[in-house]
Amino acid sequence: MDQSKADYTWHKVFGSSAEAKEQVPVRKLKQLVLGGRSICFAHTAAGFFALDDACPHLGYSLSKGTTNYLNEVICPWHSYRFSMTDGRECEFRTRKAELHPVEVREDGVYVGIKEEAPAT
Ligand code: FES
Repeated sequence: MDQSKADYTWHKVFGSSAEAKEQVPVRKLKQLVLGGRSICFAHTAAGFFALDDACPHLGYSLSKGTTNYLNEVICPWHSYRFSMTDGRECEFRTRKAELHPVEVREDGVYVGIKEEAPAT
């Protein structure tokens, strides 16, 4: 991410890392609604990730999908696979998924949602 933290609104989504792991075990996904935006919270072997819940292909809910050992989130409709490293679909069949930063802090787990630029 090349954006400064000031560009993000941080949402506390779990009270602790342990709570996040309990509610979203490894390889599982959970839909969250943050500031009116639907987010897919993912727990892979590489950690916690967050991305827009709407699949970049045809908009299906990614949180209804699965993850794999390659640190990818798999859409349940056409099985496109999105890397949690950079959001790319593994075979470049559609645009990147929009990833959101996740931070594990002393007081909980936070997801940063980038502020939309005001309409001009
Ligand atoms: S809608 Fe997700 S792969 Fe087609």
